[in-house]
Amino acid sequence: MELQDAINRRHSVRQFTDQPVGKQTITKIVELAQRAPSWVNSQPWQVYCATGKALQAIKDAYREQDATGNHGNPDLAVMSREDWDSQAQANMKQWRHEIVHHFADFDEAHAKMTQASESLYDSPVILYITIPQNTPDWSIFDAGLFAENLMLVATAEGLGTIPTYNSVRFPAILHRVLGVPENERFIVGVSLGYPAKTTINTYRSARQPIEETLHFKN
Ligand SMILES: Cc1cc2nc3c(=O)[nH]c(=O)nc-3n(C[C@H](O)[C@H](O)[C@H](O)COP(=O)(O)O)c2cc1C
Repeated sequence: MELQDAINRRHSVRQFTDQPVGKQTITKIVELAQRAPSWVNSQPWQVYCATGKALQAIKDAYREQDATGNHGNPDLAVMSREDWDSQAQANMKQWRHEIVHHFADFDEAHAKMTQASESLYDSPVILYITIPQNTPDWSIFDAGLFAENLMLVATAEGLGTIPTYNSVRFPAILHRVLGVPENERFIVGVSLGYPAKTTINTYRSARQPIEETLHFKN
């Protein structure tokens, strides 16, 4: 697949089939993602691939927490929407409006979004990306480059992905189930698998007009 096709085709998949993804394919995806640039080639990322019983244990433990009303405490701080820059706030508001109107009505949208989120999108794989606690902000940037590489390669392999904050809300559970050392912090979980043919997966998010993003100065 051409790079431009992969970029255009990648989108967040919020419902996966239960078709498994082979270990060889996952290895190929992560190996190619490793070509991402990083500060002085520090390559700060680690990847923990949760599948099968480990992933089920994570999903069960998350559900238990959700049932108690605990929203989690991710390693990267979450900021209230009202505190974001106004343009980012407007973009988030537009996204929310569009995805809700993609469904027949608000109740259906709410039900499907909640179900997707609570089941961690039913993906057969989540690739958890960590970096050491002891790293500068630059490593978060590097992990982002790595994650995008990973999602583009997965797209080229005919797979669907979604990067989520949702999957890293409870780091203590992830450390325990995945055996991740305490000195690593969870940046994002990338759900991976084959997209289900559902309404939620036909939504495509908008982007700002290029003139509002690209500023030429002569
Ligand atoms: C760091 C990060 C965290 C995200 N967390 C979530 C999440 O928890 N739940 C969710 O539904 N989407 C999540 N997303 C997906 C975004 O909503 C999505 O990327 C954005 O709306 C653009 O849509 P697209 O990925 O389909 O192009 C996350 C994306 C990023 C980059």
